[in-house]
Amino acid sequence: MAKFTGKSVLLVIGGGIAAYKCLELIRLLKKEGCGVRVILTRAAEAFVTPLSVASLSGEKVHSDLFSLTDEVEIGHIELSRAADLLVVAPATADLLAKMAGGHAGDLATTALLATDKRVLVAPAMNVRMWTHAATRRNVETLKRDGVAFVGPGDGEMACGEYGPGRMAEPAEILDAIAAMLAGGDKPLAGRKILITAGPTREPIDPVRFLSNHSSGKQGYALAEAAVALGAETILVSGPVNLAIPPGASMVPVETAEQMLKACEGELPCDIAIFAAAVADWRVASVVAEKIKKSAGKVPSLAMTENPDVLRTIAGLVGRRPRLVVGFAAETEKVIDHARAKLLAKGCDLIVANDVTAAGKVFGGDRNRVHLVSAAGVESWPDMTKREVADRLMRKLAADLAAKAK
Ligand SMILES: Cc1cc2nc3c(=O)[nH]c(=O)nc-3n(C[C@H](O)[C@H](O)[C@H](O)COP(=O)(O)O)c2cc1C
Repeated sequence: MAKFTGKSVLLVIGGGIAAYKCLELIRLLKKEGCGVRVILTRAAEAFVTPLSVASLSGEKVHSDLFSLTDEVEIGHIELSRAADLLVVAPATADLLAKMAGGHAGDLATTALLATDKRVLVAPAMNVRMWTHAATRRNVETLKRDGVAFVGPGDGEMACGEYGPGRMAEPAEILDAIAAMLAGGDKPLAGRKILITAGPTREPIDPVRFLSNHSSGKQGYALAEAAVALGAETILVSGPVNLAIPPGASMVPVETAEQMLKACEGELPCDIAIFAAAVADWRVASVVAEKIKKSAGKVPSLAMTENPDVLRTIAGLVGRRPRLVVGFAAETEKVIDHARAKLLAKGCDLIVANDVTAAGKVFGGDRNRVHLVSAAGVESWPDMTKREVADRLMRKLAADLAAKAK
């Protein structure tokens, strides 16, 4: 069955360049069985035609508050009452300001004010408009009012500038809609999520260890996003220099063996995400005293394989989390290796990232990921790690809800 059968969305399209992306959003919503009614603002009509919108949505397009015909057929209040969710995309600076100020001067703003339904906005604007103090104030006000946001992301804009303000992609807005339709603004409430993060440290002797460059930033961002969506969040973390995300429970570990034991101790859980960079090998026998330097002599270290945390948890029978997600840090043939890892580990999804110097992923704040699953490959644009986390969590919330059906 389509994901949104029986649900309906009222989509308000604002007057921005990104309005064209809403045609794709409508198509995706319809494909998932969602009813879509659309209000075009006057400015939006300069960017997309009512005819395109009506053809894709299969519904009459609304734009006039004082239309006698519309008022007789459905009525401006009924438009929002009949929807399960209101979505504003693109949410222009002007629309955000009007919403924050409680304006109701046209059909779009009246419908947005005359509703007790949840509202999701996808802002899109020039970077200076987005970072302007007035927009910052309006966004804060709307967040306090309970309005949910998806995006904007960073990227190159139609105006030629670069920075935050680019509207979320239709697929991302679809995930956000799915998560909100599944469970309001806390779609992971009542769910337990296990996340591993950071490197492991494999001791050589009391003062030395083997480790890797993982900063833990992506895993910690995932924990923040999981808490924000209402999940009971357990963060099993190797040694990193990051603050524990408020609301998450932290289980500190050092070695791969400790990480596996800690994860097993947190089962059962609904979703397990393995973002830690677990050392594949450890020193076969840790030396009890510090290995002394002696001129001309170089110690050789015999290595042994570490337990595979991801494969072990994904392979559990009975206690396997409903969704098991692995991260793959690759330096070449990123997607091929991720596909192989998906099969070898038995997980539901691999989030692959290129950690070569060009990617600057280790320790950096940005990530460009490819989601590899049995359904195929989904490549996301370059985003901050928190944006990746938010989008991934929403997607997992929607996937979990779909599995429960
Ligand atoms: C070519 C062009 C592109 C525009 N793109 C945006 C945009 O992406 N975001 C935005 O906030 N305003 C944008 N504007 C300005 C809005 O169209 C203008 O503020 C309008 O009043 C917004 O109407 P609305 O409240 O119906 O969305 C653009 C204007 C033009 C002429």
